[in-house]
Amino acid sequence: MSFNIVYFGTSHGPEVGVRAQDFIAGEEFSISKLQRFLDRRRPGTSDGVSARKESDIPEFRSGVTKKDGDTLVTTGEILEAVIKNEDANEKDYEDLKYTPRPGHADYTAFVKYGEIGMTTGGGQFSGRLTAPLCVLGGICLQALEKRGITITAVTDAMGDAEHAKAEGDSVGGIVKAEIRGLPAGVGGPFDGGLESRLASALFAIPAVKGVEFGAGFAAAAMKGSESNDPFAFEDGRVITKTNNCGGILGGISTGMPVTFRVAFKPTPSIALPQQTINLKTNEETTITVKGRHDACIVPRALPAVEAAAAIVILEILNEENRL
Ligand SMILES: Cc1cc2nc3c(=O)[nH]c(=O)nc-3n(C[C@H](O)[C@H](O)[C@H](O)COP(=O)(O)O)c2cc1C
Repeated sequence: MSFNIVYFGTSHGPEVGVRAQDFIAGEEFSISKLQRFLDRRRPGTSDGVSARKESDIPEFRSGVTKKDGDTLVTTGEILEAVIKNEDANEKDYEDLKYTPRPGHADYTAFVKYGEIGMTTGGGQFSGRLTAPLCVLGGICLQALEKRGITITAVTDAMGDAEHAKAEGDSVGGIVKAEIRGLPAGVGGPFDGGLESRLASALFAIPAVKGVEFGAGFAAAAMKGSESNDPFAFEDGRVITKTNNCGGILGGISTGMPVTFRVAFKPTPSIALPQQTINLKTNEETTITVKGRHDACIVPRALPAVEAAAAIVILEILNEENRL
């Protein structure tokens, strides 16, 4: 069964949260381990990331019961967790009320929802929504780890964030991720496939502009003889000698590591003057964005990538009755 997940809340509202209507029952997880995972995403922890001070401690409203001091168990009821917004600063956004930030979702939110949709701090489009993603994803990661499946995301490439920040600018980067221990035969064709569902979850992370599996875009320049991964036996099990397909053929896992890369664009909110429009006066104007923004999204996005992938993999395993 699918988990039926919704994320809710906004960057500057009272809280952000996640609700999973049909999560698995009887799954134990460590609160301290979950908190360590959430702390990797938390703002205000180093230079180059947003200075917003948030403790990012999840409060479970439903769907868990306490086993011991550090262990919660899912009950199978609707799993709902919220994280309070403790340090939102509306003042930073006062000047931006009718002047959409280039590169952010202010303009498209205005077109779609009207003035009310153009809420401060990116509203529901804010990177803050990756906090509840990481709550659910952190639980899924622990559930997968118990079944011998690990997911890790690391920085593959990144611009010079400190230099960019000093110039009032921002940079993007690439995250490289790997799912290990996933048995062969998980997934399916078309939109139910591993690639389709992982890509969908990864593209939902704000600022993601590209996702590739295995050799990805580079495969387009290869010959079939270079791109095809030769099959072989190793210790009695089927392996491929290379992994250009990223561990997925026909949307189904091959049993090799599932490998993918995720491209993040530079943070839209920058201090340098940028041209925009005033949607009230219908004039062109210039803005400089104040406030506490990440000079590069990549360091804080690593756990979000792991979380998004973990939710998809655990959900598919659950649908396939493999848990
Ligand atoms: C962890 C994380 C932190 C982010 N921090 C910021 C930020 O400080 N300032 C900003 O303008 N955008 C930030 N973003 C990106 C915006 O949320 C995103 O670019 C915007 O919602 C538009 O969506 P799109 O880029 O996917 O089209 C962040 C994204 C993530 C994943």
